[in-house]
Amino acid sequence: MKVLNHGSRKIEESMRRKKILSWLGLVLLAILVLIQLIPGKLPEVRKVVPNDLLANNTLNDTVATLLKNSCYDCHSWETQYPWYSHVAPVKWLVGYDTREGREALNFSEWETLSIRAKMKALSEIGEEVESKKMPMPIYLITHAEARLTEQERQILYRWAENYSNQLLE
Ligand code: HEC
Repeated sequence: MKVLNHGSRKIEESMRRKKILSWLGLVLLAILVLIQLIPGKLPEVRKVVPNDLLANNTLNDTVATLLKNSCYDCHSWETQYPWYSHVAPVKWLVGYDTREGREALNFSEWETLSIRAKMKALSEIGEEVESKKMPMPIYLITHAEARLTEQERQILYRWAENYSNQLLE
């Protein structure tokens, strides 16, 4: 049996650790490469949006810009996908949020809604914006430009309220 002194045992231990780490790295890399082969596309993007909210209504520039910058990636057909959203597993997350977001509210289909549905949507928009649930916090990590200040939240909230009142008239 080999008797190791304290120093060489330490060296051996650290080499073993490095070996395990480089193996782990390789396995992770292999997994990352392999999951790219899993089929599945990001939700479709449409350029022609005849029923879009912004295309059919004269909105105040500030409101239009806020909606476009902070909401349209998930709540319209005009999603702008950054390069990394094409790489799994980010792709799955972005795909899921875009699909669910459009289902809950799609500004590109705004004019197809009844007055009642528009009012319901507007009240939800006000609520989501005021309670800071939207835009989704995870989205803000990579989209600093979508972050809303307190004042901008107020602007959107008031827009939703006024628009809803106009629909009643
Ligand atoms: C990263 C994607 C993403 C962004 C950006 C985003 N949303 Fe959402 N939104 C979702 C998803 C996903 C849902 C559905 C699940 C949920 O309610 O959390 C949703 C749901 C909603 C709903 C419906 C809530 C309900 O009560 O059913 C409203 C209203 C809404 N969002 C408004 C907004 C507004 C306004 C903005 C911009 C200020 C915005 N969202 C930005 C993903 C997003």
